[in-house]
Amino acid sequence: MPTIYDVARQAAVSAATVSRVLNGNKTVDPAMVARVLTAVRELGYRPNAVARNLRRSQTTLWAVIISDIGNPFFTSMVRGIEDVAQHSGYSVVLCNSDENPDKEAVYVAAALSQQMAGVIIASSGNGKAAKTLIDSGTPVVAIDRELPRASVDTVVADNEGGAEAATRHLAEAGYQRIACITGPEGVSTADLRLRGYHRVADGPVRRADLREQGGYDAMASLLAEDERPDAVFVANNLMAVGAMRCLAKHKVAVPGELGLVGFDDLPWADLVRPSLTTVAQPTYELGRVAARLLVDRIHTPAGKPSTIVLPTELHVRESSARPPAP
Ligand code: RIB
Repeated sequence: MPTIYDVARQAAVSAATVSRVLNGNKTVDPAMVARVLTAVRELGYRPNAVARNLRRSQTTLWAVIISDIGNPFFTSMVRGIEDVAQHSGYSVVLCNSDENPDKEAVYVAAALSQQMAGVIIASSGNGKAAKTLIDSGTPVVAIDRELPRASVDTVVADNEGGAEAATRHLAEAGYQRIACITGPEGVSTADLRLRGYHRVADGPVRRADLREQGGYDAMASLLAEDERPDAVFVANNLMAVGAMRCLAKHKVAVPGELGLVGFDDLPWADLVRPSLTTVAQPTYELGRVAARLLVDRIHTPAGKPSTIVLPTELHVRESSARPPAP
């Protein structure tokens, strides 16, 4: 049975550092946190299992790790989680990884050390840190983003189908050079939406950081192409805002010169002019279903994990109207 000293040796840190990482101490250098979590996983280290299970069976805390607390997409999703948690006797601790896998690893360590009763995670990257959680026996549910190579309960929206419907809508409206702005490689929502886009179109593609400025810069890069696209599918809400800001700055008429469709509905999508066509996700339902799965998993640890895919909905508005005849 590996000890804390074996972990320390493998991670080339002191045993005290290993203890600090597993106790969620935020002063530990993220690179060290990553090394410790890797060693824990590789050695199969288990902090005092009996004490841990005793403590966990008494904790009623869930860690909900989201990738961007600044993104309104997560607001109603977390609300769906919290409503079920409260009803089931649990409380939620919200953690923001800022689309940063190192920061995600710090929160994973905290969830481990605080003996959280369960974790719901929208991973910001390769899901490496989450694997440590899963290996530790902590009940984990993946939400919104799949955890690669992990066999856990998962709740996502139909990212590929939603992106295909958005792109097909632009093609059927008569747009012929349709581009795509998506998120980073390795984030499942970004990759699956790009795959859905490619089912219909094969135009220029830009990858950005799922944030507003990234969307702005990606759109500016597309406008600088020798042959400009006549439509763009943008794979999340904040990048769509940035893209719209860029089009306004460059005085590109939407939908006159360029058609636009975003992913994730926005409260004001109806109010801006032109109103924005979007692919809406069932965000509250994503949270509610994930929380129900976690309650069931806590009470029944064994059993094959479920993967639930919820439908998206294309909300057609002005920004993707048929282009004017040449
Ligand atoms: O940045 C938020 C986006 O990433 C949303 O589209 C959500 O699906 C998440 O994956």
